[in-house]
Amino acid sequence: MIYPVIWQEDRALLIDQNRLPTEYSFVEISRYEDMAEAIKTMIVRGAPAIGVAAAYGVYLGAREIDTADRQEFLTQLEQIAQILGQTRPTAVNLFWAIARMLKAARQTVGPVDYIKTVLLETAKEINAEDLQTCQAIGDRGLEVLPTQPEKLCLLTHCNAGALATAGYGTALGVVRSAWREGRLARVYADETRPRLQGAKLTTWECVREGIPVTAITDSMAAHCMKQGLIDAVVVGADRIAANGDTANKIGTYSLALVAKAHNVPFFVAAPLSTIDWELPDGSQIPIEERHPSEIYQVGDTILYPPGVEFYNPAFDVTPANLIAAIVTEYGAFAPSQLKEKLHQQQAV
Ligand code: MRU
Repeated sequence: MIYPVIWQEDRALLIDQNRLPTEYSFVEISRYEDMAEAIKTMIVRGAPAIGVAAAYGVYLGAREIDTADRQEFLTQLEQIAQILGQTRPTAVNLFWAIARMLKAARQTVGPVDYIKTVLLETAKEINAEDLQTCQAIGDRGLEVLPTQPEKLCLLTHCNAGALATAGYGTALGVVRSAWREGRLARVYADETRPRLQGAKLTTWECVREGIPVTAITDSMAAHCMKQGLIDAVVVGADRIAANGDTANKIGTYSLALVAKAHNVPFFVAAPLSTIDWELPDGSQIPIEERHPSEIYQVGDTILYPPGVEFYNPAFDVTPANLIAAIVTEYGAFAPSQLKEKLHQQQAV
């Protein structure tokens, strides 16, 4: 199994996702400022994994607070939470996990040292729950995949795998479950410009586990669908609005349009913690804009002449009407059913 965030001997170990696939190494994080930096620089990335990392970050900050006064402790904890919350704007799991940590601190009665131990336990719970949640998402995904052909070719975008979660993955969780049940012929992985999470991370996970994987560039998806190579598309999500509009890695929206044009079902796989019930639709989802060097530079190679300007939104929003179903740990639902079926389940 692949676990991108591990708690060991009083510190967090993060798989350095910026070094994959050439180097499989860990970064040790003992201070909340370093956790914030690791999230910003995408050593750890993917919505649920960011949430897990931030939860440990809150604890790392808490343990540094040097006061026995409860109110002073909570005030300082909120400042730490704010810094962690300023790392990446789109994935709502970040804010969900931080809110859950703050709630645990506020609700705990007892001395400050005891609140600190509760915070560590809560971070570990968030981590363990996400792993179970992803396994459930993977299995529930099997219920909506096309029944024919028996062995499916699934296309995915970005990395919504073990690396992007506590382990197992959401979209790649569905792929893993399909592989386990003998229902997968192959997964097609969009390389996912500009940061190449599909190329570097999704293919790495698949090869490691013997799942047949074919990499394509993002621009090849329509052609592959026209050729009948793709039976369904499964992607993850960074934030889902109450009506089912879904923010995910840039390029997801065009993939959904192309899938619609070819009658290929398009599924989103995500935990309840990715749904933002406060947003009625996707128009208010904040879209992170990242540094243009992600576009103009690959390794040491500069791709463009001087004088070019760049626009680098990291996410886009796929309208709910392009999504056949949203697969959650509670089952798969049409976007229009989301609120009615899931709103009563408390995510925090
Ligand atoms: O910028 P990233 O790599 O953090 O973006 C990740 C994605 O867009 C994933 O598809 C999403 O977080 C779902 S992860 C289960």
